[in-house]
Amino acid sequence: MKPVEPVRIPDEETVARWRRDFPILNERVHGLPLVYLDNGATTQKPAAVIAAERGFYEQTNANVHRGVHLLSQRATDAYEGARLRIARFIHAARAEEIVYVRGTTEAINLVAQSHVRPRVRPGDEILISAMEHHSNIVPWQMVCAQTGAVLKVVPIDDSGTLDIDAWARMLNPRTRMVAITHASNALGTINPIARLIELAHVHGAPVLIDGAQAIAHLPVDVAALDCDFYAFSGHKVYGPTGIGALYAKASLLEAMPPWQGGGDMIRSVSFEKTEYNTIPWRFEAGTPNIAGAVALAAALDYVSAIGVEVAGAHEADLLVYASDALRAVPRLRMIGTAKEKVGIVSFVMEHAHAHDIGTILDQCGVAVRTGHHCAMPVMARYGVPATVRASFALYNTRADVDALVDGLARVQELFPL
Ligand code: ALA
Repeated sequence: MKPVEPVRIPDEETVARWRRDFPILNERVHGLPLVYLDNGATTQKPAAVIAAERGFYEQTNANVHRGVHLLSQRATDAYEGARLRIARFIHAARAEEIVYVRGTTEAINLVAQSHVRPRVRPGDEILISAMEHHSNIVPWQMVCAQTGAVLKVVPIDDSGTLDIDAWARMLNPRTRMVAITHASNALGTINPIARLIELAHVHGAPVLIDGAQAIAHLPVDVAALDCDFYAFSGHKVYGPTGIGALYAKASLLEAMPPWQGGGDMIRSVSFEKTEYNTIPWRFEAGTPNIAGAVALAAALDYVSAIGVEVAGAHEADLLVYASDALRAVPRLRMIGTAKEKVGIVSFVMEHAHAHDIGTILDQCGVAVRTGHHCAMPVMARYGVPATVRASFALYNTRADVDALVDGLARVQELFPL
């Protein structure tokens, strides 16, 4: 086999060129240049994505699958063409395996209600991990309440690494569904999803991967992973809000009933009997976010042109730089120190609350997220109410990390021990 070349870390000039693609990075906040380190919450949009959305409304706008007129045909082609580009981005075999959704949350709810709910009986088990976002906990709790199924949670260790032995032990013939994040939004941990899927399949359990925090940072190949469901949001991969994708194996989608009724998800309707559409449209009731789909595909084209691996190598370099710098900050405790991480650093400081730190950083022009990050069980695991989280994207630089560390020095001044 040919050895795989390590991906080179892009040089400063390359990153500077990427930065110029993002108009918002010219903004000033509180009179200072914006240092945007809240990419885990949402990424900024390159000009190509903004142009795709605007171009759709200026040249193409019409409803899809409904009109014989030229614009409607153009809109339909753009919408379905975008589906194909999304499928290619994650190596899905067919465009029909991509269902448009509002985002990861809606994708998980769809799978919970349409795939899992009709199949589980009281006492059946749904397996998740202790590092999940609320959107990969609550939909399963709801389905458990509806069916009598039981939610099982695989623990993590102090570094935020999943306990794989426990994962293997907790899988059993009653496990009907497994759902786990590809990368943790609160800790940054990357899970070894290929191995986790393999283990789940030994017990015949389908696996849903929450790809929200991975899609912009790690290559995803659903075919190679033999993944059953993969969910992600457009806005976390330089695309617009309100649009995302659920990948599902065609055989699973074919067997799933629709979860919302309305226009476009039907073949024929009468008061006596309604026949549903084929996949994926059976799951897309109502007028969809057409411009969003087109702009999402533009975002994926943008990332592909750079290379997810190249962006990921740059972010990994920033992660090392930031982790080293933060370790040198007095009275700072890192939350999430797994060996394999995406570009996320989460931390607390002994003498200042996360929200105060976030407010002071904002005054310094540095945007971070503070709070429980929609992962309250993770906070409970570490005995903290909240953390400060800096999360990197391809346009971040070492200077951004320096600005964060300078901001923390200001926190130390204002909150001395
Ligand atoms: N899930 C998003 C985050 O982690 C909103 O910030």
